[in-house]
Amino acid sequence: MIIRPRRLRRNPVIREMVRETSLSVKDFIAPLFVKYGKGRKEPIPSMPGQFHFSVDTVVKEAEELWSSGIPSILLFGVPEYKDSTGSSSWAEDGIVQRAVSEIKNHLPDMVVITDVCLCEYTDHGHCGIIKNGDVDNDSTLELLAIQAVSHAKAGADFVAPSDMMDGRVSSIRNALENGNFTGTGILSYAVKYASAFYGPFREAADSAPGFGDRRGYQMDPANALEALREAELDIEEGADIIMVKPALPYLDIVRNVREISLIPVAAYNVSGEYAMVKAADMKGWIDGKKVMMEMLISIKRAGADLILTYFAKEAALELG
Ligand code: PBG
Repeated sequence: MIIRPRRLRRNPVIREMVRETSLSVKDFIAPLFVKYGKGRKEPIPSMPGQFHFSVDTVVKEAEELWSSGIPSILLFGVPEYKDSTGSSSWAEDGIVQRAVSEIKNHLPDMVVITDVCLCEYTDHGHCGIIKNGDVDNDSTLELLAIQAVSHAKAGADFVAPSDMMDGRVSSIRNALENGNFTGTGILSYAVKYASAFYGPFREAADSAPGFGDRRGYQMDPANALEALREAELDIEEGADIIMVKPALPYLDIVRNVREISLIPVAAYNVSGEYAMVKAADMKGWIDGKKVMMEMLISIKRAGADLILTYFAKEAALELG
């Protein structure tokens, strides 16, 4: 007797019945870049289809995402000025603070998440305070906590620390509790690798480090056990959702983290992953839409509950 697995692939109806993984717009979180100024919707060259918005125009974009069924956005700020401590990141009238409150005014039910980090706001482009030529962990924690509280005050539903300093989840959690923001959650970039796949983002957010690199705080791509340790620590410190980043070169890590985590796991399909698909599609070398859908289902299949992706709007269209 021949075993014939092909019987389950005979037609679309059967294939759909036995499909193991499904993708939904409800899985998506769309990242958006907000810049100072007014009336902006400027294309980001290295990320075709993505834009720099100003506070007024980002509201319209959020409305479009919401009406296509996408429940959530992640905001990155590109401030007007930078300094050594990234002080524009916690200003009450800062770019992200204003964007959050405008979006929440128009779309109270949309889940608004803010990236908490200093690199977009510091003149040296590192994710923390520089002391003796190095990024100082503990003094950075205080500033991250202040920034997170200012986002919560503006109405953010979740804050998402992406700096990879040790102890930042507990420091932010404490600050939120002390400020009475007990309902504000933490989506922690728990497992963030030092990756060349962030290239287009750093151009878009103007956040490339002015000297050195981020290998002193982001993780070594060769390490897998360390990912579990980072995930465990952030869960213990009070994260509500943990994230693995980037997604595609780290699907094994997404799976490993999914297996030990009792809280939701997100994966960040980052700028470089997006840009490569767009570039190859523009050259006519791949079918960009099909590759996009295959990538997204692979991230889901690996175990991600949520996917942060620049493809969110386009994929929502495909999903119908
Ligand atoms: C840091 C941050 C980065 C990304 C998200 N948050 C860049 C970095 O660590 O250098 C990358 C996102 C992407 O590449 O899409 N605030």
